Amino acid sequence: MDALLIEGPTKLHGTVRISGSKNTALPLLFSSLLFDTEVTFSNVPRLWDIETTLSLLNDMGASSQWNKEEGIVRIVPKIERRVASYEWVKKMRAGILALGPLVAKYGEAKVSLPGGCAIGARPVNFHLEALQKMGVTIQVEEGYIHAKVKNRVRGVELDFPQVTVTGTENLLMVAAMADGTTILRNAAKEPEVISLGEFLIKAGANIAGLGTSEITIIGSTLKAPKEPMEIPADRIETGTWMAIAVATRSRLRLEKCRPRELTSVIEVFEKMGVHFECDDARETMEIIPAEKYSPVDVITEPYPGFPTDMQAQLMICLSQAEGISHVCETIFENRFMHVDELTRLGAKIELDGNMAVIYGPQKLSGAPVMATDLRASACLVIAGLCAQGATKISRIYHLDRGYQRLEEKLRPLGAKIERFKE
Ligand code: EPZ
Repeated sequence: MDALLIEGPTKLHGTVRISGSKNTALPLLFSSLLFDTEVTFSNVPRLWDIETTLSLLNDMGASSQWNKEEGIVRIVPKIERRVASYEWVKKMRAGILALGPLVAKYGEAKVSLPGGCAIGARPVNFHLEALQKMGVTIQVEEGYIHAKVKNRVRGVELDFPQVTVTGTENLLMVAAMADGTTILRNAAKEPEVISLGEFLIKAGANIAGLGTSEITIIGSTLKAPKEPMEIPADRIETGTWMAIAVATRSRLRLEKCRPRELTSVIEVFEKMGVHFECDDARETMEIIPAEKYSPVDVITEPYPGFPTDMQAQLMICLSQAEGISHVCETIFENRFMHVDELTRLGAKIELDGNMAVIYGPQKLSGAPVMATDLRASACLVIAGLCAQGATKISRIYHLDRGYQRLEEKLRPLGAKIERFKE
């Protein structure tokens, strides 16, 4: 398995171009199941999760081409098998996003239940309950969701008990082809949901309220847009680079990013003493670190609140602040696994349920550590860049699911980081 070896501490200098958003690309690729003709996407990031998604779609009979150099994906959705098998869904929980479009388009689907993952049980009950209200029969047998609807799904009013990003995305795709009007209340407002909705509108969908907690969809027939859909910049990759700049006290310039999608992250880092020069029109952000950082207290929340996907990356920054910070994780029940690994590097963090207390500033020293999940692995890379000496990170397949060869972006900035097989 691949591992990373990092020599720290290093100050970085230069400019980073942000890649396309993983969590925007995934629902968009699955939305191809709604159509009969080819759909094209550009600025698609080179990530394992994209590989897995295309393998899953091809397994159903689609034919996809991925020009990795140009970042172009073409999908012809000739679907012969309406099955999303465990083989793929066990690698990537977002395989659940096949459920909505298959039911909407074909009236039936057999989709593997996504297992839990390191950060939590991550059930999909909200997806299934909503589909049942729309007239879909759901049976769960031998680890698979069997969904069937006699004619067309019918539009209804739905209230999500908790904000769910992929739940909103699944139901958006179903409602777009439903018979009648659907109202999604307590809907997710993430930019990924907006991008999916905008793509469906280009395909002829009738959607209002994207980006708010109430989305109204009037079902219609859809036609694959001729124009390629460009995948927008990854807001969590952007946030991760912000954390890299803050933790290593490096002045970095980010390009092809969307500062307006990171308001809550900018606010937290500004409270620590960091300065930003953002230009949404030019899609740039300058990060100007401070000599000393103030501690802050943060609660993770659905968008536009502070993102849970930035919690681990923030924590390593807080270990360098002058004082005691608190981080409360409200989205997932087990998203502090990076804490044990950070402790091995010298961080001083106490856990009490979903609250983490971070004591700073802590000098970190390099050690062998293990990645446990996608964002935790990013946090360990940042820690390795700050720690005195060598840090070896194993199981970095977690990292490659969501970051396009992070070490290849870091080295030109001055980082001493190598990938090797262990
Ligand atoms: C999406 O996951 C993201 N993944 C996650 O990013 C992100 O952390 C998460 O949203 C929260 O922002 C993709 O977009 C592919 P949820 P999702 O449904 O949709 C509970 C990353 O690092 N819940 O919004 O699976 C759930 O357990 C990944 O890129 C139910 O109980 O998350 C969680 O506590 C990690 N029943 C909360 O709601 C359901 O049916 C939010 O989950 C659905 C969700």
